[in-house]
Amino acid sequence: MSLHPDSQVARHTLCFRTCETNSKRRVGERRNISLTATLTGNLHTETAWAYHEATKHSYVSIRANPHFLDWANQPSPFKIYPSLQTLNLASEIHPTGVAALSAVAESVREQTAAQPDLEAIAQLLYLSAGVTRRRQYPGGEIYFRAAACTGALYEVELYVACGQLKGLDAGVYHFSPGDFSLRRLRSGDHRGALVEATAGEPSIVHAPLIIISTCTYWRNAWKYQNRTYRHFGWDNGTLLANLLAVAASIGLPRKIITGFTDAEVNRLLDVDSKREVAFSLAVLGHVSAPPPQSPSAPTLGLETVPYSRHEVDYPLMREMHSASSLESRAEVEKWRGNTPPSNLPPPTGPTIPLPALADAEIRRDPIEQVILRRGSSRKFSRSPISLAQLSTLLDRATRGVPADFLDPPGAQLNHLYLIVHAVESLDPGAYVFHRNLGVLECLKNGDFRTQAGYLGLEQQLPADAAVDIFFLADLRPILERFGNRGYRAIQLEAGIVGGKIYLAAYAQGLGASGLTFYDDDVTSFFLPHALGKSAIFLVAVGRSAKRMH
Ligand SMILES: Cc1cc2nc3c(=O)[nH]c(=O)nc-3n(C[C@H](O)[C@H](O)[C@H](O)COP(=O)(O)O)c2cc1C
Repeated sequence: MSLHPDSQVARHTLCFRTCETNSKRRVGERRNISLTATLTGNLHTETAWAYHEATKHSYVSIRANPHFLDWANQPSPFKIYPSLQTLNLASEIHPTGVAALSAVAESVREQTAAQPDLEAIAQLLYLSAGVTRRRQYPGGEIYFRAAACTGALYEVELYVACGQLKGLDAGVYHFSPGDFSLRRLRSGDHRGALVEATAGEPSIVHAPLIIISTCTYWRNAWKYQNRTYRHFGWDNGTLLANLLAVAASIGLPRKIITGFTDAEVNRLLDVDSKREVAFSLAVLGHVSAPPPQSPSAPTLGLETVPYSRHEVDYPLMREMHSASSLESRAEVEKWRGNTPPSNLPPPTGPTIPLPALADAEIRRDPIEQVILRRGSSRKFSRSPISLAQLSTLLDRATRGVPADFLDPPGAQLNHLYLIVHAVESLDPGAYVFHRNLGVLECLKNGDFRTQAGYLGLEQQLPADAAVDIFFLADLRPILERFGNRGYRAIQLEAGIVGGKIYLAAYAQGLGASGLTFYDDDVTSFFLPHALGKSAIFLVAVGRSAKRMH
């Protein structure tokens, strides 16, 4: 049995109260409501609004709906196909020599010809979803992975679809982090099915390798119930931040594709879509020739090992998924690009320029080393970080995400609001980051450690951090443009940028931790500037109380 790593935190937070001796579950009534009364179909955005509203945390909701973890029914963190042969991957990490702060920020020109081989695929998989640390606890062992994940529940599975590559035959494979291997689900070149599913998305047409992320409801819902659908975007995002950075470090063009007909991709992977669903496709590399027509892909019906003795259904998250699914080629074609502009109003408060460091001035810790030493801070020391560290982190993490829903390149859905506690040369207070101007605008001064601890679900980490970085987005134009699926995109973008912040912090010898939050209280804290915006994500950065590597 593996223990839950947040259990320490859980003891200090009412919402995650655990009861290891009592296997009974009490699920909040409010969380059990159904959205079926609302219309389905991507453009009927009442569903996303209702889901967002129903899954908000507040001081009252946490107390009204305590959730007791059923440790005896804790899901296994691994998907296992017992009948398939393994193709073991080499776990040796090849030094890239590329500074993490460059890899996080850099883009590789989309049309650069590059084909990964099996060694590169192993490196990409290991450094984004591999088991990088194991920790023994009195009740079991936790297998920590390369990227942060809510509750260390690791609900994201990876699948590889490729043409013939050096060391790897064309096929569709499942990646198993537990024994660091691939298992072949289908032989032959099935990339054409993904070209179809993405309505001819140009980067997919020229992709030698596509890594498909799926999300498994129960793995995460065991703890987080209906809020799990938000976590899909967050946890897929942190993983993709690593994948994007590692791909850049080995010179592979890459792009995240979220516009596809869901049923077609799920069918290719033969996942039971009531339990596991495709969430994003990562294009890696570029070849000029498009793939041949795909061979037929019949149902596989492969046996998998059950995650738990039984699974509890939380319909809201599946309804959110269904309402944000794309069903036709026409819907997919409309999905791409045309990101609604989301400019902040010009600053009216005092502004503080952020000195961005050039490549020659940054710390050069290579990306693979930074990923291997990353691990969410469990305690911050309250000591200050420098303004150069903060500005480097903000600059490097926000240089744009190559994604089909962000066009023109550099477009963004989320804005960063900061509570600064201890940054040298910066007065403690609340700020908003103007990325295009490279400045922080001061919204109010003051010592807000107590408030930050409260906003971060009454946890100590956000109170002790040097800076808390909140992601806020105006859902209205985004849902209007993209429909319910825009909700996926908002969470995913936040997860990717949040994951980059993690890497940019660890690259500078700092610590970081993702955090959850009291939704509406966060918006209220940043009023009036944040009027109309919703809280999406939170990451705290500071000096770890533990000695940093
Ligand atoms: C989006 C996100 C939210 C998180 N929220 C919390 C939180 O509220 N409290 C906490 O102590 N840790 C939180 N974490 C940290 C996870 O517990 C941690 O990533 C997980 O245990 C895996 O450990 P690692 O990051 O050290 O590899 C969060 C992580 C992410 C990515």
